[in-house]
Amino acid sequence: MTEKVSAGERREVAMTVNAVHRSAAVEARRTLSDYLRHDLGLTGTHVGCEHGVCGACTVLLDGEPVRGCLVFAVSADGHRVTTVEGLGQLDESGDPASLSPVQRAFRDCHALQCGFCTPGFLTTITAGLATNPHPTREQAVEMIAGNLCRCTGYQNIVDAVLRAAELMSDPDAAQPDRFAEDADAAPADDPPAGRRDSRPGESEPSSADGTPA
Ligand code: FES
Ligand code: FES
Repeated sequence: MTEKVSAGERREVAMTVNAVHRSAAVEARRTLSDYLRHDLGLTGTHVGCEHGVCGACTVLLDGEPVRGCLVFAVSADGHRVTTVEGLGQLDESGDPASLSPVQRAFRDCHALQCGFCTPGFLTTITAGLATNPHPTREQAVEMIAGNLCRCTGYQNIVDAVLRAAELMSDPDAAQPDRFAEDADAAPADDPPAGRRDSRPGESEPSSADGTPA
């Protein structure tokens, strides 16, 4: 039997978000994406269509990709949530400290432009590669088929899926990749291999953790 819940009713929820235990009283109709963004301040999860089409709000629920705009926060009670902020290594205060292989691949392949869709792609691909660590190009295309991007034309994102698979299978390349060390190691006149310069009129890429520039 379906339990009746009034619109403004609040429920206690407790979940692990990016390895941190979180609990709060939330409205029963609060979506997981709104809970993450507005209650926890994790604005890396973006909200586009709000009806399950674009994939920008994708987060991992116990490792599985879900649309944050279609899941109620109360449904995540007792579960483990990973947002784009939690894909890389975190420092003691829970802030991102290094890029994950998928984030590194996006940077290497210039797989983002405005960056709005990027958090959803990063989480989707992270889950996809956990299931299929050695995808063919065709499988990489299939892996991202549920996410929309208005800027890139997808080719560089497919390249990034394959690059991420490479990085994940290379123990040396998968070592922690500190932001500060990256800045020191990458001179401005020597862009990473595979990077494409912006065309006139294109916006500069945002950071690979999905935060718009
Ligand atoms: S905002 Fe959730 S799928 Fe578009
Ligand atoms: S919508 Fe994908 S980079 Fe802009």
